Amino acid sequence: MRAVGFDVNGGPEVLRPVELAVPEPGPGQILIRVAYAGVNHGEMQHRLGDLGAVDGIEVPGLEVSGEVAGIGPGVTGLTHGDPVAAYLPDGGGYAQYAVAPAAFAYPLDGISVRDGGGAALTLTTAYGVLAGAARLTPGDTVLIHAAAGGVGSVAAQIARALGAAAVHGTISSAAKADYAKRFGYDAVHLRDGFAAHVSEVDVVLDPIGGPVRQASLSVLAPFGRLAVYGEAARRPDLSLPVLSFRAHNRSLTGYDIADLACRAPSLVRSHALSALSLLASGAIRLDITTELPLAAAAEAHETLQAGLNIGKTLLRVDQE
Ligand SMILES: NC(=O)c1ccc[n+]([C@@H]2O[C@H](COP(=O)([O-])OP(=O)(O)OC[C@H]3O[C@@H](n4cnc5c(N)ncnc54)[C@H](OP(=O)(O)O)[C@@H]3O)[C@@H](O)[C@H]2O)c1
Repeated sequence: MRAVGFDVNGGPEVLRPVELAVPEPGPGQILIRVAYAGVNHGEMQHRLGDLGAVDGIEVPGLEVSGEVAGIGPGVTGLTHGDPVAAYLPDGGGYAQYAVAPAAFAYPLDGISVRDGGGAALTLTTAYGVLAGAARLTPGDTVLIHAAAGGVGSVAAQIARALGAAAVHGTISSAAKADYAKRFGYDAVHLRDGFAAHVSEVDVVLDPIGGPVRQASLSVLAPFGRLAVYGEAARRPDLSLPVLSFRAHNRSLTGYDIADLACRAPSLVRSHALSALSLLASGAIRLDITTELPLAAAAEAHETLQAGLNIGKTLLRVDQE
């Protein structure tokens, strides 16, 4: 089968076409004939070596859609040809065929296969950060950093669907503001100096880290929650004194889908199904701004690494 992989860590240029054997689904797994693969920040981290040194040819790709093409021992409830969206904790989605845990393969009822390609990681994360980590309750006010990105553009809509009273966002450049406002933000601010323009909020979603994380604490209302789920700025971890949380009635909470997938897979599935049902009902939408052929994965990574992406980017996997 055709895939895109890398055998050395580095920039987008290390991504190259490779020919690999079709993987076999093991116990509890399914094989998916891939139609679309989502492009995510986590795949950039994989390529850069943040998740460990490369070991042979590695194929990135944390979320795909397609149809069930093989069923491993012990899997029930799925049959050959079923359209599914799947989260792939071990990657492998930039390929014609990918293996996924059946627990993280979701039937595409009322959702197009194209939308499904950007759903299983992106929507699940947005839902999990808001409902799981930040414990959003109706009436809460929310601030979302990287408001125009893949997770950010759906997080604003999910926050609304869960009853948020106000949703604010930040972006790195004014060029992204008009785009972000399409997703239900009450206001979108430049991230530089954002704290001066945002009144206190109950929840902040922070996938950026560094000084943005520090500044985010200062905009929390009493009993506010700073939910951290990424370090896109690639800055060193913060040292945060515990006493300041007590003194200011603040909480810090975290979300990591890979950890949940190991320790609480049923939570990942439940967040995914809740988010997918919002998508199927039309309460939220995925905005696919860029669709490229699989062979152009490096181009997609260049845009992502430069922080120039908006909405969701998909790779189209032609099967010939
Ligand atoms: N913890 C988890 O389980 C989990 C799961 C999925 C995703 N995530 C995290 O969620 C975040 C969003 O992921 P995504 O795939 O949807 O990406 P994305 O938001 O579509 O793209 C990343 C965004 O991060 C911002 N950014 C800030 N500093 C950057 C830098 N130095 N280089 C590149 N981008 C930078 C950019 O937005 P601005 O222009 O607005 O700065 C960029 O558009 C990422 O931090 C990712 O690691 C975490």
